[in-house]
Amino acid sequence: MGAIDQGTTSSRFIVFDRQGEIIALAQREHTQIYPQPGWVEHDPLEIWRNTEAVIGAALDKAGLTAADLACVGITNQRETTLIWDRSTGQPLANALVWQDTRVNDLVAELAREGGQDRLRAVTGLPLASYFSGLKLRWLLDHVEGARARAAAGDLLFGNVDAWLLWQLTGGPAGGLHLTDATNASRTQLMRLDTLAWDDDILALFDVPRAVLPAIRSSSEVYGEARTPVLAGVPVAGILGDQQAALFGQACFKPGEAKNTYGTGCFMLMNTGAEPVPSRHGLVTTVASQLGNGEVAYALEGSIAITGALVQWLRDNLGIIDSSADVERLAAGVADNGDVYFVPALSGLYAPYWQENARGVIAGLTRFAHKGHIARAALEATAYQTRDVIEAMEKDAGITVAELRVDGGMVANELLMQFQADMLGAPVVRPRVSETTALGAAYAAGLATGYWTSRDDLVANWHIDRRWQPRMGPSPRDALFARWRKAVARSLDWV
Ligand code: G3P
Repeated sequence: MGAIDQGTTSSRFIVFDRQGEIIALAQREHTQIYPQPGWVEHDPLEIWRNTEAVIGAALDKAGLTAADLACVGITNQRETTLIWDRSTGQPLANALVWQDTRVNDLVAELAREGGQDRLRAVTGLPLASYFSGLKLRWLLDHVEGARARAAAGDLLFGNVDAWLLWQLTGGPAGGLHLTDATNASRTQLMRLDTLAWDDDILALFDVPRAVLPAIRSSSEVYGEARTPVLAGVPVAGILGDQQAALFGQACFKPGEAKNTYGTGCFMLMNTGAEPVPSRHGLVTTVASQLGNGEVAYALEGSIAITGALVQWLRDNLGIIDSSADVERLAAGVADNGDVYFVPALSGLYAPYWQENARGVIAGLTRFAHKGHIARAALEATAYQTRDVIEAMEKDAGITVAELRVDGGMVANELLMQFQADMLGAPVVRPRVSETTALGAAYAAGLATGYWTSRDDLVANWHIDRRWQPRMGPSPRDALFARWRKAVARSLDWV
């Protein structure tokens, strides 16, 4: 069973066995392109080349060939927006990455009439530069010839899932142009109730329907791969990466929640068969749609910058040599020394949704040194997570009894303990921490009968480590109140 996990910084292919254990993994990073402040791009062809390369490398490591795989699933960085020519397979531009804020003016213009929440009831999302619809509009308006090619029926839009599926299944020679409902729910072009593209929003955003992929479920056989490295293997699952992690964490019951600590942090709570509108700054999104039509929805708190702040300490400040060094540096100080770091480097997402917020380090004195900054950077992840969980509990009316965690930063013991302290609830890490790829494998394997039911998947989930809160309520609330004060400074900046 194989899964492609195409993320913001790298592409991976993982081979799993029936117990959900990893047999082999290969990974390759791709270039982050920053043409000007606020703009973030990826080269779609580099992503496709890397995807093919990691599939081959993982199969080689495992001593397997495509014929040994029951099927494959795809999971992907969401919202990142691509356009390409259907007859040549050439992208017309670099992909606009989800973090890219170039459509801020468009967001403001649309929000002037009807407010930032004017599309929430239909799409579950506030107007923000984050989602794909306005990025697609920007590409259509600014890439030479794009609108003309769209009118001629030559232009295809997709998120990374659709791009990879199209390439895998033949590219210009009949590649399938499809997406799944979880990815489509991040475009702001899809209705949450019918899971279909919404004509009014297409008109508002000036996006022609002909460029859009068909929306399918997250778990069904879409077709067979034709690319040599996977030739003949059924492609049977697609989930946006955060929804995939929710699935891989076996959060199938309403109230079950996970937080993935990557470039950003994405907390999703399964809310069951009906979408729950958010009144506290979260987004409502599709958690999964299985081939039989069963739809689960989620509330999501998306945080733009968490792990990326550690990279920023490494690459922009140079106070650590590698990301792993942050824990040692932060552990060298007894506490944060009253230093708070609000990492609003691409504005603030949930629950604030303020594109113009800017990064702030508050509370510096001559006593503060790089250890305090490292500590404040780590703590920022935990505070932002508490911001989101508080909103989630208010929206859903339930208390999160424990938080399942995954992603690169969960190796950081200091952070995980602080997270449990800041939530006043246990934080639990599963044995297989590659839950994103696992979720995509599960979606595909359920479609082909490799796994027979979700009970098999629940049985595969085992605890590796549990952090219990050790901090009392009064220091916890005091720290959090200081954080909120720093956030107010960040929101005030512009
Ligand atoms: O919404 C963006 C998210 O899907 C990106 O996830 O893990 O690729 O940073 P990641």
